[in-house]
Amino acid sequence: MAQDPRYQLPTYTPAARGLHWLIALLIFIQLPLGLYMTYRGNEMPTINEKGEAVKGIFDALTGFLYSSHKLIGLTILFLVLARFLYRLMRGAPQPDPSVPRGLTAASRLVHWLMYALLIVVPVMGYRAISYGRYLDVFGIPLPAVTEKNEDLSKEIFEWHERAAIVLLVLVSLHVAAAIYHRFIRKDRVVERMLPKKIA
Ligand code: HEM
Ligand code: HEM
Repeated sequence: MAQDPRYQLPTYTPAARGLHWLIALLIFIQLPLGLYMTYRGNEMPTINEKGEAVKGIFDALTGFLYSSHKLIGLTILFLVLARFLYRLMRGAPQPDPSVPRGLTAASRLVHWLMYALLIVVPVMGYRAISYGRYLDVFGIPLPAVTEKNEDLSKEIFEWHERAAIVLLVLVSLHVAAAIYHRFIRKDRVVERMLPKKIA
């Protein structure tokens, strides 16, 4: 629905927008990185030194990918906590009044679920590497925050994967909604979050 051009659009602050896009960029790297590194380390068909066909290769590149995943994951956690606190303190702009109430409620639900998973997924990742003692990041050990327990580590890694997939589904819905607002409904919802020069 086209809107009255005189309508003063309430937008997100530059800090909220900057953090949104930085976190989005890191998530777009982190999800495929997690899936590829575990495939490479556990599933990828390869030939070992004895010439046998085996699954999975844990070479320097795989180690590099795992260290990168841990480092990016902790960076995401730190940025999301900052973004979440900022959101609780400063709130968000009023919803676009042209958007039906049901859609606004649905988008709010997806936003809070994404916040929850953006915190829970990396916390689970850290707990899993702590239980399993896979704490190395580029040769530097992270502090253990739990006792050692291989079984718990495996179980939490499974939940880490499941929760990451749910996050991927929510992000896909969120991006589909942004495309719907921008190109089908042609309202100004996406403009609130875009850098001023692009909007
Ligand atoms: C928002 C942040 C994160 C996302 C979206 C994410 C996502 C993923 C995904 C999709 C996988 C592949 C799961 C599989 O196929 O088994 C994975 C695996 C893994 N993640 Fe994360 N992760 C995040 C944060 C972290 C953090 C903070 C750590 C540790 C400090 C971590 C450690 C690991 C490890 C060690 C694996 C490999 C598990 C295995 O070998 O079975 N992740 N992650
Ligand atoms: C991994 C990727 C992403 C994550 C985790 C993410 C997360 C979020 C969250 C949590 C909010 C709520 C902000 C708040 O009110 O506190 C939000 C808002 C928003 N996001 Fe994303 N986002 C991602 C990618 C994208 C992309 C690719 C687009 C556009 C194509 C986009 C467009 C928007 C817009 C327009 C809003 C404001 C919605 C409104 O005002 O109702 N996001 N995003």
